[in-house]
Amino acid sequence: MTDQIDFTMMYVTHDAFRRDLVRLEAAVADGRAATQEVRKGWDNFTTQLHVHHTVEDEWLWPRLAELAGDRPGAPTLLAEMEAEHARLDPLLEELGGALEANAADLAERVETLTTVLDRHLEHEEDEALPLIQEVMTPADWKEFGSAMARRQGVKGAAAYVPWIIDGMSRADRRRFLAHLPAPVRAINRLAWTPRYRRRRLWNPTEAGSLKKAA
Ligand SMILES: [Fe+2]
Repeated sequence: MTDQIDFTMMYVTHDAFRRDLVRLEAAVADGRAATQEVRKGWDNFTTQLHVHHTVEDEWLWPRLAELAGDRPGAPTLLAEMEAEHARLDPLLEELGGALEANAADLAERVETLTTVLDRHLEHEEDEALPLIQEVMTPADWKEFGSAMARRQGVKGAAAYVPWIIDGMSRADRRRFLAHLPAPVRAINRLAWTPRYRRRRLWNPTEAGSLKKAA
């Protein structure tokens, strides 16, 4: 079916959020929460999540409301998506403060954020994406991708692409990179991924996971 929307970018982004929280949980369990690498991993995670949710809130949910507004369940689902994003904001803020302070209850806070974010991502994948598939066209979805790219800018893309493929299997990485234009793949291989590896997000040992990227 050629008129089906390909949700690859959404799924790989959600999976990168999930992966980062697993890394954060491991870092807290190992007593590495106060390290530079974990701070940088957290900063990048919150930046990526902020961009993702902002473009969903400003572009995706309003467009979905326009196209699906009258369908049974659509208004409730859209209200839930917004409410779930709003619930995450204070949790992120508090966890950021707890990381700064290397607070004693870090593990619990990470667990709470993971539960709330996992539930939201699953809800979006199980209910919002099927509704989007029903009422939007691939051209609409491309516009969403463009809105995301505009919001990120080149600097954002330089951080986003290597972050997405970090830790992916070779096959998944190839599949993901095939969605990008050839010049972007080239600049990622030559500049973005090497720079990302030097940042050593979360843990120096994790940096090796990108060795064969692209
Ligand atoms: Fe999403």
